[in-house]
Amino acid sequence: MNRREFLTSTALAAMAVSLRSSGIPPGMSLPDSSTHGTTGFVPDVDLELSAKPTSNEILPGLMTGVWSYRGRLLQGRAGTLEESGSYLGPTIRLHRGDRVRIRFRNELPDSTIVHWHGLTVPALMDGHPRLVIASGKDYVYEFEVRNRAGQYWYHPHPDQRTGAQIYRGLAGLLFVHDEEEASLRLPSGENEIPLVIQDRAFQSNELVYISGRMDAMTGFLGDKILVNGKTDHELTLSTGVYRLRILNASNSRIYKLAWSNKIPFTIIGTDGGLLEKPLRKPYLTISPAERVDVLVDLSNEAAGSSLELRSGGFHAAQMMMGRGMMGGGMMGGMSRNTYGGLEQGSEFKILSVRVVKKEKSNFRIPNRLSQPGFRNLNGAESPDKARVFNLSFMAMQWLLNDSTFEMQSTKDNETWKAGTLQTFEFRNASTGMMRMMQMAHPMHVHGGQFQVLQRTPGTDTQGMAASLREGFTDEGWKDTVLVLPGETVRLLMQFPQFKGLFLYHCHNLEHEDMGMMRNYRLT
Ligand code: C2O
Ligand code: CU
Ligand code: CU
Repeated sequence: MNRREFLTSTALAAMAVSLRSSGIPPGMSLPDSSTHGTTGFVPDVDLELSAKPTSNEILPGLMTGVWSYRGRLLQGRAGTLEESGSYLGPTIRLHRGDRVRIRFRNELPDSTIVHWHGLTVPALMDGHPRLVIASGKDYVYEFEVRNRAGQYWYHPHPDQRTGAQIYRGLAGLLFVHDEEEASLRLPSGENEIPLVIQDRAFQSNELVYISGRMDAMTGFLGDKILVNGKTDHELTLSTGVYRLRILNASNSRIYKLAWSNKIPFTIIGTDGGLLEKPLRKPYLTISPAERVDVLVDLSNEAAGSSLELRSGGFHAAQMMMGRGMMGGGMMGGMSRNTYGGLEQGSEFKILSVRVVKKEKSNFRIPNRLSQPGFRNLNGAESPDKARVFNLSFMAMQWLLNDSTFEMQSTKDNETWKAGTLQTFEFRNASTGMMRMMQMAHPMHVHGGQFQVLQRTPGTDTQGMAASLREGFTDEGWKDTVLVLPGETVRLLMQFPQFKGLFLYHCHNLEHEDMGMMRNYRLT
């Protein structure tokens, strides 16, 4: 098989970089309560969700083979499920306090499981890879929505194949609404626009993914930018105020979002919901899995004008082996994953906006948005002694504290009490061998949420921090944070009352699949 046949073969999922054995057979058995639903659970929202192979028009006029989530509402308020109009799954809208049942059916030729990114749910409802179900099987999720109003998303989470499955199309948005949000009367309907940003690569009309371990070390980078599942996205707007709900659902790409006419962003929310008050930023640095809720005021634009949402250039600290030390030689071909040459940190257009009509808007951005209920260090288990997690690299693999993923186990520093407040430190070391292996890692923690307490920069050898710093969206409750090369990021983590095994990992999906993921246990 030549490279091209290999890349475009239907066995895309099998191409995940297998560096270790998964430890359990696919489709291991599940507790009955989660396969059939619990007697006694009375849902407010009941829906079916399936994952299956299909085809979709991503490139104009051409059909592309994809894997998609499709849903059907069995019970619940109108508007709970909204078709995406693309390969993306239906948008799910829930309210805080809803009891939700989701009957998931795996119609893929591969095992899978669904994770509700950012939602605080019991361990068996969280889509841990040990819970994967085989092709043809069902998994019934039942949980209560505890999260504040905010933008979340759902995606697969099988061990070593999360990157390949999300890449093929498996992802969808999930919004939570609550009364605090409703009282603000933020732009809604046509004035609330979800933007799911992803990069992809094609050979003729079919998707192509990474082709080996070298590609996986940097992570997949595609040369086509998709917004809501389409290339060359264009928004036709009026001169009002719009609420853009942005998700970076790319495997590895970091965006530096900026308007072509330099208007600043007004941020009203991040991963875990609304901020206390709106904030202005010249640009937004958004790494894989992060969300930003922004308002854009077009009232000073003339009808007939147009603008672009762009990703600005930045210095991406690539692993030096790509170009320097090992480039071309023993490790040749590191840049192959940048299909079409759109490297990390390149500058490009994301979408264009055409302002077509004048409209009077009397929406004023409120000065106070919400009471996020922040915690402080006093409540933490050991405020001065953080749990340290080194983002490390050894034997051609990204690791956490020098360990790779193990399906069922945790180490001593990975167990603590449910319901507690913990201090975490993610250290992206820059000493010794690691100096040559610098990369930014978007670190994600399941189960709980955190506040970013502090970033301690290291030596910014490649200028990455300087070119991205002003755009960090560290405010509010978060579940994913970008840790730059050399940096130490200190977090205050709030864990839920649920007991059991949860994950923390790098959300560069190729890193995650390679084993830059570990369990922690709440006792
Ligand atoms: Cu987006 Cu482990 O998650
Ligand atoms: Cu998650
Ligand atoms: Cu990483």
